[in-house]
Amino acid sequence: MKIILLGPPGAGKGTQAAMLMETHGIPQISTGDILRAAVRDQSPMGIKAKEYMDAGGLVPDEVVIGIVAERLQHADCAQGFILDGFPRTVPQADALQQVLSELNKSLNAVISLEVDTEALVERLAGRRTCSSCGRGFHLKYDPPAEDGSCSSCGGNLIQRDDDQEATIRNRMQVYQQQTAPLEDYYREQGLLTAVDGMGEIDAVQRAIETALQAS
Ligand code: AP5
Ligand code: MG
Repeated sequence: MKIILLGPPGAGKGTQAAMLMETHGIPQISTGDILRAAVRDQSPMGIKAKEYMDAGGLVPDEVVIGIVAERLQHADCAQGFILDGFPRTVPQADALQQVLSELNKSLNAVISLEVDTEALVERLAGRRTCSSCGRGFHLKYDPPAEDGSCSSCGGNLIQRDDDQEATIRNRMQVYQQQTAPLEDYYREQGLLTAVDGMGEIDAVQRAIETALQAS
């Protein structure tokens, strides 16, 4: 399965990608996670990307296209992959099409997670992420077994730098302006399925599996 998870900040892309990875045995490719790791490592790419990420803007297309083009060539992508947070602009989507055709691959499905704005803000405000293994939690909807520490590895739970209210608002605006046009882009290709992302995490997972079976 070669899948794209599309949806605004906080829609549940990362949460659902981790579950799809388990169920289907294919890797999650999250450009956000890759960029955050580069920021932590203070690599030249990370230092450049941090400015854009802290402001809630998009990192330049050529940087993220390069990351994904390289990642898709790894052996673990042979049976499929879940793209989480990529593509985010029409030029990124065009570049993905080009890369996949060079690899003789094509997408099976683009799942668009639909969530109300109010719920997105609540999800982002309550999100906590493990600083060690990257697992995501929510203080109310998906709490860790023990306050402040990861239920998987015991690592410290932290709040993402870009989950501040002003940055969240900018990320939402950037999504509407630059990423939402991809819904039509993939609808016209017959690849898009909209999934109601408002239910509980398990209910959304079931809806995604149903959509994938139909695609
Ligand atoms: P990225 O990391 O991709 O952030 P995002 O798209 O803003 O999305 P999030 O990770 O915030 O949300 P999510 O949909 O994964 O939700 P989650 O599952 O965590 O990108 C960050 C930045 O990197 C960008 O702003 C940009 O600067 C840069 N970047 C990345 N990719 C780029 C690209 N392609 N081009 C250019 N720049 C790029 O869920 C959120 C919370 O809700 C969690 O706490 C979770 O537990 C909870 N939750 C999940 N599902 C449910 C549910 N059904 N009910 C209740 N709670 C739920
Ligand atoms: Mg995410």
